[in-house]
Amino acid sequence: MKTTAKIALTSLVLSLGTGVALAAPAADNWDNLCASCHGVDGKAQTKTGKKLKLRDYTDAKVQAELTDAAMIQATAGGVKIDGKEKMKGYKAQLSSDEINDLVAYIRKFKV
Ligand code: HEC
Repeated sequence: MKTTAKIALTSLVLSLGTGVALAAPAADNWDNLCASCHGVDGKAQTKTGKKLKLRDYTDAKVQAELTDAAMIQATAGGVKIDGKEKMKGYKAQLSSDEINDLVAYIRKFKV
């Protein structure tokens, strides 16, 4: 009886865990693919972020300067500065829904 309860509890915890992961794919994609440069918190206080002087996405002014279209374009197609690729495009890796979700995720960094 006790064992059954434990198993039931374990599977409940496991399914809850999965539910959370499914509900937040943009957060996962951000942490796995983008945070190394842009920072987990979007502030770009990473080694690469500081070196490349990446924008602080918590700054309302920065957010106002960026359009959704430009952010989608950058994420899908990458960013070249002076002909050099500074950020690769993710369109081969991410669906357009995932890219849209990431842009919405970036918007939420604004304080
Ligand atoms: C290798 C470092 C690196 C990674 C990883 C990276 N980026 Fe970037 N990102 C950059 C650079 C560099 C720029 C260009 C900044 C500029 O224009 O000065 C940029 C620009 C952007 C822009 C355009 C707005 C802006 O701040 O200039 C968006 C949106 C963006 N990145 C989103 C993402 C997303 C979403 C991911 C993950 C899927 C990601 N980036 C991963 C380095 C990176």
